Amino acid sequence: MRTTISQLRDMKGRGERIAMITAYDYTSAKLVEQAGAPIILVGDSLGQVVLGHDSTIPVTLEDMIHHCRAVVRGTQKAHIAVDMPFMSYHAEWPEAVRNAGRILKEGGANSVKLEGGRDLVRIVTRMVKAGIPVMGHIGLTPQSVNQLGGYKVQGRSPQQAAELLADAVALEGAGAYAIVLELVPAPLAKLITEKLTIPTIGIGAGPCCDGQVQVFHDLLGLFEDFVPKHTRRYAKLGDDIRQAVGTYISDVKDGRFPTAAESYDMDEGALAKLADKA
Ligand code: KIV
Repeated sequence: MRTTISQLRDMKGRGERIAMITAYDYTSAKLVEQAGAPIILVGDSLGQVVLGHDSTIPVTLEDMIHHCRAVVRGTQKAHIAVDMPFMSYHAEWPEAVRNAGRILKEGGANSVKLEGGRDLVRIVTRMVKAGIPVMGHIGLTPQSVNQLGGYKVQGRSPQQAAELLADAVALEGAGAYAIVLELVPAPLAKLITEKLTIPTIGIGAGPCCDGQVQVFHDLLGLFEDFVPKHTRRYAKLGDDIRQAVGTYISDVKDGRFPTAAESYDMDEGALAKLADKA
């Protein structure tokens, strides 16, 4: 049985912090689950770290379903939350609900995540009524990068802070089971966390959220184009990979790979017969 949304809410109740991490494929998802993550996010950040786009905007619903299926195949216990990509929930609510339904039916996800606040109340309500658990995402919402004018901290002014608080309360009221707070000042994230009964999951939102989320490639030092201030690198896999692959290349060039131990033998008689025929 995978982690349920009520178990996530109970974790908040017990003061047990939730560690969420992104994964986008079978192998990484398997490792992340084996390490103990109760919830995995198939984030649309895959647009940048896997597909090489310069934002999340080009990511499609088909991309998300494709990667979600791989993550689901690699896991048994983790809750799988999946980002709905840009423009898959912004037009009409019936289309949004149908698209969210595809992520659960075809992708095998347990829930979806949407970026936005009070403007999404109707859509979130409809999804929840249809049996689709929804995680909210407020603060810096990367799908709105063109509107926001960059990846900047949100909610620093009293008015912006009040709006974010109102967004969080509205999402909870609409039935969201958790909310990601991205690039929000730590004191505001603390206030929102205390105000809500559902868990907040922070990224660049300080230590007082109920949980944290990090991008797999950032955490492990695999994505080197840009290192956000709020990331802590727990490994330098980029360096390790370059070194390992470099050693492999020189072993091939210099004849050190493969050896007999890495090769397959055959019956000498069969080889002799072949030699006779040749
Ligand atoms: O796409 C993503 O990885 C995300 C997290 C950064 C919260 O939305």
